[in-house]
Amino acid sequence: MQNSTPSVVILISGRGSNLNALIDHAKQTGAYQICAVISNRPNAAGLALAKTAGLDTAVLDHTEYESREAFDAALADLIDEYQPDWLVLAGFMRVLTEGFVNRYLGRLVNIHPSLLPAFPGLKTHQQALEAGVRVHGVTVHLVTPELDHGPIVDQAMLLVLPGDTPETLAARVLALEHQIYPRALSALASGQIKSVNGRLEGTLTLPLIHAIK
Ligand code: GAR
Repeated sequence: MQNSTPSVVILISGRGSNLNALIDHAKQTGAYQICAVISNRPNAAGLALAKTAGLDTAVLDHTEYESREAFDAALADLIDEYQPDWLVLAGFMRVLTEGFVNRYLGRLVNIHPSLLPAFPGLKTHQQALEAGVRVHGVTVHLVTPELDHGPIVDQAMLLVLPGDTPETLAARVLALEHQIYPRALSALASGQIKSVNGRLEGTLTLPLIHAIK
């Protein structure tokens, strides 16, 4: 009997360039199947990308909920209609409640634009420049209740160049994001990397670190 393709629900808030990379990879490899894209912002540009790709989309506007708990409960109800194997945050700019995170623990994945544990939170590229680091990058990790923590699935790095601004760094990091997120999700979906009692086991077959110009 053939195993079914792992299913994925993707949460977004905005542009959706990582979503686009994840869609392309799914089309090219069939490593996972995207069953829905959900945005907390009605005008997120990523929704149009998802629709063009023929995916189910939904909007759950967080401003219509009186508390973080109420929003997260409604979001979980919506997600659970799809029974996804994986829940993937792709630029989903909401802090999630502990209850929500625990409901999807071990199958909730995020991408963060820094080399965690350095520079959690917002404005990571500005934080990196202010700290004077010489290398910077991106992390794919499993989500735990502590913000921007959790077992690291993959990282990619680049050199900070003289004259870099938050914008130039962001653009180069984003190109790395598009390379590592699909690969990391495939490795999780295939079981090549597994979460065992909150720790990751297994390795990616490609080098974990990419140094690019
Ligand atoms: C990406 O850079 C992603 O790493 C970041 O938001 C951007 C979304 O861009 N996520 C976070 O900062 C989460 N803490 P996209 O909508 O084009 O994928």
